[in-house]
This record gives sequence, C-alpha cells and structure tokens, in this order.
Amino acid sequence: MNSFRFHNPTKLIFGRHGVEQLGAQVAPYGTSILLVYGGGSIRKSGLYDKVMEQLKGIGAAVQELSGVEPNPRLTTVKRGIELCREHNVTFILAVGGGSVIDAAKAVAVGVPYEGDVWDFCMHRAEIQEALPLGTILTLSATGSEMNGNSVITNWEEKQKRSFGSIHAYPQFSILDPELTFTVPANQTANGAVDIMSHVFEQYFSLTTNTPLQERFCESILRTVVENAPVAIKEPQNYEARENLMLCGTYALNGGMISVGMQNDWASHGIEHEISAIYDIAHGAGLSIVFPNWMRYVYKERVDRFVQYAERVWGIEREDRSDEDMAIAGIEATRAFFTSIGAPATLKDVGIGAESLDRMAEEAVRFGPIGSFKKLDKQDVKAILESCL
Ligand code: NZQ
Ligand code: ZN
Repeated sequence: MNSFRFHNPTKLIFGRHGVEQLGAQVAPYGTSILLVYGGGSIRKSGLYDKVMEQLKGIGAAVQELSGVEPNPRLTTVKRGIELCREHNVTFILAVGGGSVIDAAKAVAVGVPYEGDVWDFCMHRAEIQEALPLGTILTLSATGSEMNGNSVITNWEEKQKRSFGSIHAYPQFSILDPELTFTVPANQTANGAVDIMSHVFEQYFSLTTNTPLQERFCESILRTVVENAPVAIKEPQNYEARENLMLCGTYALNGGMISVGMQNDWASHGIEHEISAIYDIAHGAGLSIVFPNWMRYVYKERVDRFVQYAERVWGIEREDRSDEDMAIAGIEATRAFFTSIGAPATLKDVGIGAESLDRMAEEAVRFGPIGSFKKLDKQDVKAILESCL
C-alpha cells in the first residue's frame, strides 16, 4: 500500500431520535443560523418542526435557504452566501440528502471568500476557511455527511463540478435511520447504487497488498446488496435502513476504507457530465455508467475482478476462465441494479446520442481521468456509446 495521512473531523450521532441532541450540538457555534433544506420533504415528514423547536430552544435566530434542487445549483448557493453575509450567520445547518448538504458546504466556503465561489469548483482558487456546518441526513447515498466534498451545478453553463476541502467537513452529523423511512423506492435504489459506486471507485485499484482495505470494501458491497432490496420492499424496516445508512457514510468519508490505495473516480466524472446536461439523479447515471466502465477496463487487472465476482457475488469457479469470472461479476452487478429498479441504458432515462461528444470532451477538461485505466476523450466517448 502507499503512504497515507487520514484525518476525519466529523462527529457522528447515530441512532433513533438523534434530532433531540441538535440544540446541544449547535449551541457552541453561536445563535445566528442558516437552515438549508430541499423541496419540502422535511416539512412533510415533520422534521422541520422538530429542528425549529431545537433551534428555538437555544434562542437561535434562523434564516432559511429552502428549495435546494437535487443536483444543487450555483445560483442557490449564491443566495445562501448573501443570506449569511446579510445576517452575520455563525453556523450552517443542512437538513436533507446529499444535494442539500453539498449546497450548504458551498455556502460555508463561499461566505469568507471574496471571489466567486465557482472558482473552487473550477480549481482556480484554494479553500482557506469556511463557516462551520452540521448536518441531519435524510437519505443514504453520498457520504457527504462525513466528507469534505461538494458537487455543484452551474446550470447556465451546463457544468457540474466538485471541490473537496478539510474545511468543508461537517462538525457533526445526526444520522437517524428513521428519517429515511419516507425515501421513495427509486431514490433508495439510486442511493444504493451510489454507495456501491463509491466503493467501486476505491476497490478497483492498481495498488497492491491492501487486503484489509479490500475486505472493508467487499463487506460494504455485500451489506448493501443484502439490505437495499429489503428497504425498497419494506421502507420502514429500521434494520435495513440503519445498515444502508452506515454503509453510505463509511463508503465515502475521506477514504477511510481505502487508505493507502490509489482511487479511480472516472465513472463519477463521466456521470457528472450526464447529470450536468440532463439533470438526472446521480445514482441513476451511475447505474448506467458503472457496469459499462467495468467492461471497458477489467483487463487492466483481471484478478481484482475475479476476486470481486467470488467474494461479493459468491460466483463459483467451476470451469470458468479468469476472464469469464470477471465478466460474470460484471453481469451480476448489472443484474442487481436492474433488480432494484435502477436504469441500464441512457435510453431508459430518455437520453440519446446527441451530446456524447460534448460530454466526453468536458469529462477530460482538466486532463485524462481515472487511474485503474487512464481515460482520454476517445475512451470516455466509447464508454458513453456503450451506455446507449
Ligand atoms: O428536496 P427534498 O424535498 O428534500 O427531496 C429530496 C430530493 O428530491 C428527496 N429526499 C431526501 N430525503 C428524503 C427525500 N424524500 C423523502 N424522504 C426523505 N427522507 O430525495 C431527492 C434526492 O435528494 P438528493 O439530495 O439530490 O439525493 P442524493 O443524496 O443522492 O444527492 C445527490 C447529489 O449529491 C452529489 C450528486 O452529484 C448529486 O448532486 N454527490 C455528492 C457527493 C459528496 N458530496 O460527497 C458524492 C457523490 O458521488 C455525488 O456526486
Ligand atoms: Zn456518487
């Protein structure tokens, strides 16, 4: 394995009724709060009222940034930055899924920065500081509740870009699996695909001698495969929801499961180009892209794909060659995604071939992507074509 440094400062508060601890967690950060949330799911579920009660309990003055879009927009982030400056906000509280948390992070890093917050997404400036933020997670998927990443869409320019910073890690995240009972089946499936994809990006690596990290990855994958279908069938199954939640948080929390390993992240880069233009759910895009990426790259390291087929899918050798084993594992991945209702082709989500060239071009805007196999524009285009 490679040398590494690992530092994750986020405190997790996991379990039922976590929201009752909110006031005590926020109190040290002052009383001028920006509450960030999405299109209304937290009002419907009653969570909004519970949050307000906690914040009122510590005498907080609360500003609201509501209506954060799935695939959150730069324009919304800028509204949040204005609100914070106008009201001298001391703490940002995100209540929602990855989009809400990512928007809150972008607001947090944007407030003390004199330039345009989009600079961070375009790698034109380095993040030096941020307002502190905390989260209450309502959807198991991105891991944003325990990492320093944020993905923002500049809709006018059809660009979806990300930044990552130690300053953007939440101070705390409240993870109550009951808050995910209302997540609909399709979003639950998208979340499961996203969680598995985060693991894939780390697991399919050329780094050698990483047996512990590989088993961390395989155990998360197995746990998602066992629990996602249960949560889809029985949305209020607490055990399934808590397992998915923990998987999501561990799958992408600053690289804990893959310390010392080179990561890939090409499939995420390709997916972000699709949702940048077509505004589809991130997990749906990954469901389309990932098995096709696997087929395109597996020859770089067949042994890892054989191990994946055996350990994650329990596929037995019988008289299969290494290559056949690898393909069987990839096919099992596709079959699983399909079984939980996630899409398999661009056509399934109403996308044709018209923008493939532009997407391929934008995916490599900052140079070739991926490390398992470095992909240039032609490679990305070929993968996108196989997604049609
Ligand atoms: O807006 P509301 O009304 O809250 O509804 C949301 C939204 O429509 C709904 N939802 C959330 N919790 C719910 C609920 N509905 C009912 N009950 C609940 N408890 O679900 C919809 C999708 O929410 P969203 O936050 O967009 O989903 P997700 O968590 O998958 O986040 C996706 C975004 O995160 C980015 C993606 O690119 C995308 O923009 N990512 C962020 C990452 C990170 N920060 O580390 C990594 C990921 O790879 C990803 O790129
Ligand atoms: Zn993702």
